[in-house]
Amino acid sequence: MSARAEGSASDEAHGGSSRSEAEASPDHRHWFEPIADHLGGAYLRYSFTKGTRKEIDFLADALHLQPGMRVLDVGCGPGRHAYELARRGLVVHGIDISERFVELAAAEAPEGATFERLDARDLGAEDRFHGQYDVVICLCQGAFGLMTANGDDEVVLAGMARALRPGGRLALSAFNAYFAVKYFAVEGGSEFDAATGVNHEHTEVRNEAGEAKAVDLWTGCYTPRELRVLCRVAGLEVEAINSVEPGGYGSMSPTTETSEFLVIARRN
Ligand SMILES: C[S@@+](CC[C@H](N)C(=O)[O-])C[C@H]1O[C@@H](n2cnc3c(N)ncnc32)[C@H](O)[C@@H]1O
Repeated sequence: MSARAEGSASDEAHGGSSRSEAEASPDHRHWFEPIADHLGGAYLRYSFTKGTRKEIDFLADALHLQPGMRVLDVGCGPGRHAYELARRGLVVHGIDISERFVELAAAEAPEGATFERLDARDLGAEDRFHGQYDVVICLCQGAFGLMTANGDDEVVLAGMARALRPGGRLALSAFNAYFAVKYFAVEGGSEFDAATGVNHEHTEVRNEAGEAKAVDLWTGCYTPRELRVLCRVAGLEVEAINSVEPGGYGSMSPTTETSEFLVIARRN
């Protein structure tokens, strides 16, 4: 998220909320957790969450979804995609680092959707996930792109690949680096670090009572070439990379003009 696109991520090179600083904090929390605590249910008021059904409509075809399939939703937030998938007869497990978001997701979960608090960086180390899923989704910077140390996105991707059965598919969205350079820095006053590909935005988020909280958002941005290389290293064969917007998923070849790329990949 970002104030515009509502995404974030960070890198060690960025002052204020690096992973090392977050881990040295008294409660050892990921930097996104206080933001999620403040947002609570107000997260779902942001416009970028409004196209969930359309996003799942597209993914139903792209991922060859069938009722009964097992789906892992990584960085599930309050569970909007997991809910929609469960309503369509899929069996979904959502993981998220934010306790607040996991509580919200679990509170009204439809049948077929379960949730737990888990750091996506630990996915690969947990044998119970190994080869268990037909599909993994990681949308709207659900962990991938929100990491704070160089290399953590690779760890998250490797864990997601490991959770897939052979032949299982991944849907992963990532911020478009070209778009960030072309528009964010120019129009939004955010800073793009060319060395790390991280976009830094200082903005505010509002809770359910409308109270504003100033926050720093870091979004790891990617080119299609980087996404292909990362997938190959993780043992994933890329089937498509599409230029998309939240709520506007489709089969458009990568361009500089949309805020996100959507990768559809298959585990070898
Ligand atoms: C912008 S939200 C996207 C949520 C959801 N996928 C959606 O589309 O609405 C990013 C989510 O990633 C979660 N997240 C960030 N880092 C994570 C990590 N290391 N492990 C698990 N979840 C993480 C955040 O707590 C947050 O819920």
